[in-house]
Amino acid sequence: MRKMKITKINPFGVLIEPLDACIDVRELKIEELRSHFRKERLLALRGFRTFSAADEFASYCEGWGKISVWPFGQILELVEHADSKDHIFDNNYVPLHWDGMYRPQVPEYQIFHCVRAPLPGQGGRTTFSNTVMALENASTSLRELWGRATGIYKRKMEFYDSKTVSPIVAKHPLRGFPVIRYNEPPSEEKGKFLNPPDLEFAGLNSAEEAQLHQSLRDALYSPSNFYAHEWQTGDIVIADNFSLLHGREGFTSKSPRHIRRVHVLSDPPLENPGLESYQ
Ligand SMILES: [Fe+2]
Repeated sequence: MRKMKITKINPFGVLIEPLDACIDVRELKIEELRSHFRKERLLALRGFRTFSAADEFASYCEGWGKISVWPFGQILELVEHADSKDHIFDNNYVPLHWDGMYRPQVPEYQIFHCVRAPLPGQGGRTTFSNTVMALENASTSLRELWGRATGIYKRKMEFYDSKTVSPIVAKHPLRGFPVIRYNEPPSEEKGKFLNPPDLEFAGLNSAEEAQLHQSLRDALYSPSNFYAHEWQTGDIVIADNFSLLHGREGFTSKSPRHIRRVHVLSDPPLENPGLESYQ
């Protein structure tokens, strides 16, 4: 029996919806979803019956692979904290980055479950940039500039104090095609940014470095390479953390936005190639 309808998202990813409202997401074969994930890099599952408790969500994610466990456990509860000391738990925008960049292992899959969506007009979309497309769509001279640069990133927060060094243009760790690894410096125009990381870029002179950031921003946020997911309650989004970068748009403080996130490792797990120190 066919259970799902698949629609392309512009410019990448697919929206997967049930053909019948009573279908539970757990009825979909993960290996079938995984083959779409490999091609499309982002799956947005909408309209399915989902999970009534956090542990049901974690069990579902285990079907995708080994969960990367954080000091807080398997699930990150993304909700605004009243007295947040870090941008992750406030309501401001988050620049593009890849997850696990400061951790011993880098997860391949980010799996999100929207427990409660913000109300219309409150913002809070999760932003995704397809770096494979950004490279394919870039000029030879920009690819050459990006190919000479290396990011040196330090971040201290509740769960780690780490340093990571990564070339801007790297290889997909399992499939070898080029991808961009970049932690976008926070833009001051977009509001206060709590506990910013310490970012440095090597390999370029200062004029080239300014051009690096401007051209990467232009490419990564270009409508040809960029998708922002506007959450509806019950949505599940599965994103390819090896090929995409992601961030968050700001949202209205005290909105009901509540998203759960799990990191699932590749098989075999990827030991973080850029991690220089971690405590
Ligand atoms: Fe993230």
